[in-house]
Amino acid sequence: MTSPFRIAIAGLGTVGGGVVKALAARQDELSQRAGRPLLLTAVSARDRKKSRGFDIPGWSDDPLALAKGDADCVVELIGGDEGVARQLVETALANGKHVVTANKALLAKHGKALALLAEEKGVTLKFEAAAAGGIPIVKVLREDLIAHGVDAVKGILNGTCNFILTEMERSGRGFDDVLAEAQAKGYAEADPTLDVGGGDTAHKLALLASLAFGTAPALDAVSVEGITHISADDIAFASEFGFRIKLLGTARRVGDAIDQKVQPVLVRASSALASVSGAANGVLVDAGEAGQFFFSGRGAGEAPTASAVIADIVEAASGAPSPVFGRPAAGLTALRPADGKAAISPWYLRFEVLDVPGVLAAIAGNLAEAGVSIESMIQRGRAPGEPVAIVMITHETAQAQVERALKAIGASDKVRARPCMIPMEA
Ligand SMILES: NC(=O)c1ccc[n+]([C@@H]2O[C@H](COP(=O)([O-])OP(=O)(O)OC[C@H]3O[C@@H](n4cnc5c(N)ncnc54)[C@H](OP(=O)(O)O)[C@@H]3O)[C@@H](O)[C@H]2O)c1
Repeated sequence: MTSPFRIAIAGLGTVGGGVVKALAARQDELSQRAGRPLLLTAVSARDRKKSRGFDIPGWSDDPLALAKGDADCVVELIGGDEGVARQLVETALANGKHVVTANKALLAKHGKALALLAEEKGVTLKFEAAAAGGIPIVKVLREDLIAHGVDAVKGILNGTCNFILTEMERSGRGFDDVLAEAQAKGYAEADPTLDVGGGDTAHKLALLASLAFGTAPALDAVSVEGITHISADDIAFASEFGFRIKLLGTARRVGDAIDQKVQPVLVRASSALASVSGAANGVLVDAGEAGQFFFSGRGAGEAPTASAVIADIVEAASGAPSPVFGRPAAGLTALRPADGKAAISPWYLRFEVLDVPGVLAAIAGNLAEAGVSIESMIQRGRAPGEPVAIVMITHETAQAQVERALKAIGASDKVRARPCMIPMEA
């Protein structure tokens, strides 16, 4: 065997702890695969005194010291798109060290600049764990599904949202109730905004789109809608129509532009994505002539995420540096955003209206004026003078037309809540 590959890890939380344990448990096997001994030589986190349940060699109070020490590879597992994580990654690369990270927020925001720096220094920057956790989708898009290009990538990329939606469907309970339970069980953060608001999915989607289309990650070009407005009724109605509601991140080629969206979507109950339940993730890649490929598995948590980080470490130790986003960073083009509102699909519409004569006719009139035609409709029960739910499924229509109709409908004093519109798989 050749010289050891010295590893420094900053961040010893869920992911960092998992990486330290997995490295220790299978050191010989992993070193054999890397072709050189893998040695954990330094670590850093915030609190030195915290009991962590594993041995920690070479503690440093200052994570930046790891970027200046004798490590060959710095593993950044702190998180955040600025601050210490960004400084650490930049300094490590500038000092000619390989970097492995799980930090989607950092790469979605600064991916191209960091890739340029890594290439200039002749080192590797790897981020398999940053999108879909244990599913090796980054490698697949960077190295494998390349022959025919990629037309679209869509995925369930946030386990917290998928857990909440699955549990709402299973139990019939509302969003707030299930979120509170998820928080109590530790499946959701105390501040769940980044997850349920769709921001975390947007970070991951920006990375997958970059790998798929050869564009620089463009977080600003992702249109983002979360799941906080999804009601138990929506889930029940979707089920009646043979669909499930999933939060999808979708990036697709539209001519020479790319449409990137995070939004709830009604997917057919029989589809692969609908079968992804609980905290799991799933990614569907439409690889042109090569066909469609579906990947699913655990997208977060200690062991799956550590699995992806370890794979990156072994690759960094054993191979020549490869381009961070699958092609030379200087060649990553600026993403040209497609007009997302031109996207055509059938739509699920839910209105909460007063049960009085003429309401339905008025809604139908507004829809017709905007060129939206209805395929089917459900009105549950009658409650004269009281609010009732009306649900409609449209024929394929552009988003802009549906929005125009809903704006007019929402202005009526007979409509009690903001109308809900969710795209459906055709
Ligand atoms: N958790 C997952 O399932 C998962 C999945 C995919 C990707 N990721 C990504 O992996 C990264 C780490 O996530 P995590 O869940 O492991 O986070 P975590 O459990 O909160 O751990 C964060 C670690 O960073 C340390 N830290 C925080 N601020 C620091 C500072 N200023 N200086 C030094 N150390 C600092 C903490 O130290 P103390 O331990 O001393 O407090 C802790 O060890 C994030 O980028 C996250 O997005 C996580």
